[in-house]
Amino acid sequence: MTRILVLNGANLNLLGTREPGVYGTATLADVEAEVRRLARSLGCGVRFQQFNGEGELVGALHAAMDTVDAVVMNPGAYSHTSLALRDAITATRLPVVEVHLSNIHAREPFRRHSVTAEVSVGLIGGFGVHSYLLGLRAALAYLSDHPSPPGAGRGARQRRRTVR
Ligand code: DQA
Repeated sequence: MTRILVLNGANLNLLGTREPGVYGTATLADVEAEVRRLARSLGCGVRFQQFNGEGELVGALHAAMDTVDAVVMNPGAYSHTSLALRDAITATRLPVVEVHLSNIHAREPFRRHSVTAEVSVGLIGGFGVHSYLLGLRAALAYLSDHPSPPGAGRGARQRRRTVR
């Protein structure tokens, strides 16, 4: 079974009450329930983690290296600043689909650049909770386009990683 990690970064634990005009009123638990429902209907395994600390997110990517096929990640503000997270994506060779609730390109100038998206396989933003659902579908589409070599373990899929 294909396994996907949905990884959330700083301040996303506050969804539901945090700037609802920007991020909506769904809580992180609501987001996870919707993603879990979609994953079940698509027949893939999904697990969820959220960390506020940059180092914890780096650690989560390291741990995911040999246990999941791809990551759907919303790094929060670390998207704009974290070279450590960017390096972790590159080092683990995990296919990462970056997602954002808001359209970062339509917001303040400092949000319009993502250092992590530059090394991710793609970026989806601006669709609220649907960004995560589209992210899951995108991760599965990517994996189907980049199958593991026969007999290879889970991590080997990562060697096929390409950035379009
Ligand atoms: C966000 C966008 C980031 O700029 C911001 O720092 C967040 C949330 C989003 O999902 O739209 O924390 O990642």
